[in-house]
Amino acid sequence: MTDKLIIFDTTLRDGEQSPGASMTREEKLRIARQLERMRVDVIEAGFAASSEGDFEAIRAIAGEVRESIVCSLARAGERDILRAAEALRPASRFRIHTFIATSALHMEKKLRMSPDQVYEQARRAVRLARSFTDDVEFSAEDGSRSGLDFLCRVLEGVIDEGATTINVPDTVGYAIPDGYAELIRSLRERIPNSDKAVFSVHCHDDLGLAVANSLAAVKLGGARQIECAINGLGERAGNTALEEVVMAVKTRRDFFGLDVNVDTTQIVAASKLVSEITGFAVQPNKAVVGANAFAHASGIHQDGVLKARDTYEIMRAEDVGWSANKIVLGKLSGRNAFKQRLRELAIMIDDEAELNAAFVRFKALADREAIVSDEALIALAKESEGMGTNHSHF
Ligand code: KIV
Ligand code: ZN
Repeated sequence: MTDKLIIFDTTLRDGEQSPGASMTREEKLRIARQLERMRVDVIEAGFAASSEGDFEAIRAIAGEVRESIVCSLARAGERDILRAAEALRPASRFRIHTFIATSALHMEKKLRMSPDQVYEQARRAVRLARSFTDDVEFSAEDGSRSGLDFLCRVLEGVIDEGATTINVPDTVGYAIPDGYAELIRSLRERIPNSDKAVFSVHCHDDLGLAVANSLAAVKLGGARQIECAINGLGERAGNTALEEVVMAVKTRRDFFGLDVNVDTTQIVAASKLVSEITGFAVQPNKAVVGANAFAHASGIHQDGVLKARDTYEIMRAEDVGWSANKIVLGKLSGRNAFKQRLRELAIMIDDEAELNAAFVRFKALADREAIVSDEALIALAKESEGMGTNHSHF
């Protein structure tokens, strides 16, 4: 068992499955760049066979991202796997993530397949995926509601075919931390070749337990990959929130004893970027990335924090990317403050001339409006795109 926890981000795939959160190729690229800057281990860039647009977005991300592994989802069938492999071809390192449902309910009612057929199809899919890459993930959809014996049989079979990551999703958000952790633990214990794969968790938040389930499976079950999304974006009630699991494992390293690669100072920028692109506001009291997450309102708390921050703060705002002191941008603000806020919003203007032009427009705006909001800054940055500046800076 490694002492490293792999962070697998699925904002661009499961996150995009949130009703109303669909993203263009350019928007996905902007998010992928930020995820890479944040040093997530794996970026699930999309589901190549689902549409031409998704295929193109994955290909563009695969062509640009160099530090993170780029991944595409694929149903356990030949066409999907070929599309995924094709889209991922430009990547320096890539993963094919193939899945099929293993619960009796899904096999009978949705797939209309027998357990033997599902078993054979899962093995075939992994065998085919392995002909393109040695980094293959297999997911047993509705894993948390699947029969243990059958799940063991399928997972042993796909590891035998070369799957290197085994994901056991709580697809419908039904699991409870103790039971889910026990499921992962017993799979690892019962499957004879389980030591040849990393066990992964993928939880949905229907009961508000996605983060708790993921962390329990890591601590008690031995999972070493968490699938998650920025701001907890995802199908229905969403996925495990990346910012919450990462900060839990980092803040309570004394308890988890695990290393995480993520540069946490990029978290707020990622959150703002995803919120701006999807139009999904982040609630003010949201852990880590909500506007009030580090605000102290009561007199007793303010007094305590002024005397010693750790009286009421378990994390430092700067460590997740909030500026230590909230600077209000207006007509008296200088270039440095302007540049810093752009950086916090994941807007990167490297070119000096472009930055100067944007600053002049900011000053003109600040003359008309007392306080320049983040939304106004984002709009101002978008104007730069319209004026022919290099889009790739954003
Ligand atoms: O929730 C789920 O089961 C999934 C799988 C495709 C991994 O998103
Ligand atoms: Zn999911």
